[in-house]
Amino acid sequence: MSSIHEQIDSLRSSFFQDLKNSFSVKDIENLRIKYFGKKGSIQALMQELRHCTPEDRPHLGKLINDLKNDLVSHSDHTFERLLRQETEDRLEKEWIDPTLPGRKSFLGRIHPIHQMMDKVLDVLIGMGFSVRYGPDVDTEHYNFGGLNFASDHPARDMQDTFYLENGWLLRTHTSNVQVHVMEGHAPPIRVVAPGRCFRNEDISARSHVFFHQVEGFYIDRHVSFADLLSTMNDFLSKLLGEKVETRFRPSYFPFVEPGMEVDVRCSACRGSGCRLCKHTGWLEILGAGMIHPNVLKKGNIDPEEYSGFAWGMGIERLVILQSSIPDIRLFTQNDIRFLSQFP
Ligand code: DAH
Repeated sequence: MSSIHEQIDSLRSSFFQDLKNSFSVKDIENLRIKYFGKKGSIQALMQELRHCTPEDRPHLGKLINDLKNDLVSHSDHTFERLLRQETEDRLEKEWIDPTLPGRKSFLGRIHPIHQMMDKVLDVLIGMGFSVRYGPDVDTEHYNFGGLNFASDHPARDMQDTFYLENGWLLRTHTSNVQVHVMEGHAPPIRVVAPGRCFRNEDISARSHVFFHQVEGFYIDRHVSFADLLSTMNDFLSKLLGEKVETRFRPSYFPFVEPGMEVDVRCSACRGSGCRLCKHTGWLEILGAGMIHPNVLKKGNIDPEEYSGFAWGMGIERLVILQSSIPDIRLFTQNDIRFLSQFP
């Protein structure tokens, strides 16, 4: 067995050999474990002292300690050099230019249809209406029958309505919510129902297979035609501005009697006539009327005791009129250039 002196020499030379081959912080960490760890070479050499005579031990122990201190200081020195070098390399690679202009983050926006919907709902909620959402997929009863459409009414025609299987259909208007609400509630009822509607029409600049409406209705004792007119005036002036001018024209819808259409003074030409209003000076904005007694009866509400009014309006049309949108298809094409014009 070689002497402690020899072992110290060979440990020293193998250490420096290893140190020469250490090129990274990680290498030095491994080297430290190999030589100075609990199961490392220095510790193993210490164990060897057991075989020495008690007189030799202090002297040899000191030699091993000196060796350790020397090797530790060498490895520390190399460690620091490598760490500095690795840090510098990394900083160089991760160099950033603080003078570059910042990248603009893209802010999402609310779709113009929903902006308008929110505006309409805000006004009506402020007037005491509560919001109800009806189903998009419904039955003939809720979409037509309960609303006093005769069984041969042309609106029920396949050409207008998307019929699904087993008597289901895609609602053609939000008026279906009237029937649902009457079924579950007794008057007084004051509801506004926004939502998506579907009609089987050719898609063009002016019409689409789906669009959005807001339906409103009010049922109570002694609700009169005068209430309808004043509510419409109040609602439209809150929505479109205090100065809005309205016009009421008689019209026909199966679920109201009398029925009417409401126009507002053309915002583009202020009434003198232009392309937007087809030279009439007026823009048709909604349909309305006193709820037909048959509709109340079908909803289990006694028309002798209660009366009500209802109205419905298209949201796309409102946005088109207000922002002069040339093509209804723009609303569904998800073109950022279009959508970002509605901040
Ligand atoms: N549901 C009708 C439509 O889709 C709009 C409408 C007209 C709703 C008159 C009403 C109303 O409540 O009274 O064209």
